[in-house]
Amino acid sequence: MSRTPLPYNPKVLDLFRNPKNLGKMEDATVMAVAGNPACGDMVTFFLKISDQEIIEKATFESYGCAANIATSSIVTEMIKGLTLKSAWEDITWTKVTAEVGGLPTIKFHCGVLAVGALKRAIRLFYEKKGTAPTWLPKDHTFEEKQALEEEELARRLSKRLNTGEEK
Ligand code: FES
Repeated sequence: MSRTPLPYNPKVLDLFRNPKNLGKMEDATVMAVAGNPACGDMVTFFLKISDQEIIEKATFESYGCAANIATSSIVTEMIKGLTLKSAWEDITWTKVTAEVGGLPTIKFHCGVLAVGALKRAIRLFYEKKGTAPTWLPKDHTFEEKQALEEEELARRLSKRLNTGEEK
C-alpha cells in the first residue's frame, strides 16, 4: 500500500528531525506518561521544578509520530521558566499547534497529547505534594482526558483488539 506523505510544514519537519530537549531527565521532579487512545502512541514528560514552582527544565521522550515529537519539543521550550500556574493556564493545544506553524487536521490529537502529558505531570506534582492550588481544576481537562495513563491505554487497546472495534 502506498502512503501519501502528510503535508507537514517546514517548522514541524525541522522540529521532528532536530527535536529540542529530547531524552530522559534523571533528576526530574516529576514525570508523566501519556498515551493517546486513538492512535496508541505514547509520550513521557519530565519536569524539573524549583521550590518557587517554576519549571526550570523540561524534557520528553516520544513514541509518537512526527507531529507529536514536534509539538512535545515546542512545549518543552514554551514552558521553560514559567510557573506551574502559567504553564497550566497558558499552554493550550491550539496555542501549541499555532506555535509549530499549524498541523494537518488529522494530526491535531498529537498536539493534544503533548499538552495532556504536561498537564498530567503538573497534576501529579501536586498529588505527590499532597496539596492542590485553587487554580487547579478538580475535574480533568479535555487534554488530560485524551492523554491516558499507560495502564488505561493498554486496557483500551486490548479491548479494541478483542472486540474488533474501529479506532
Ligand atoms: Fe499518534 Fe500522532 S499519530 S501521536
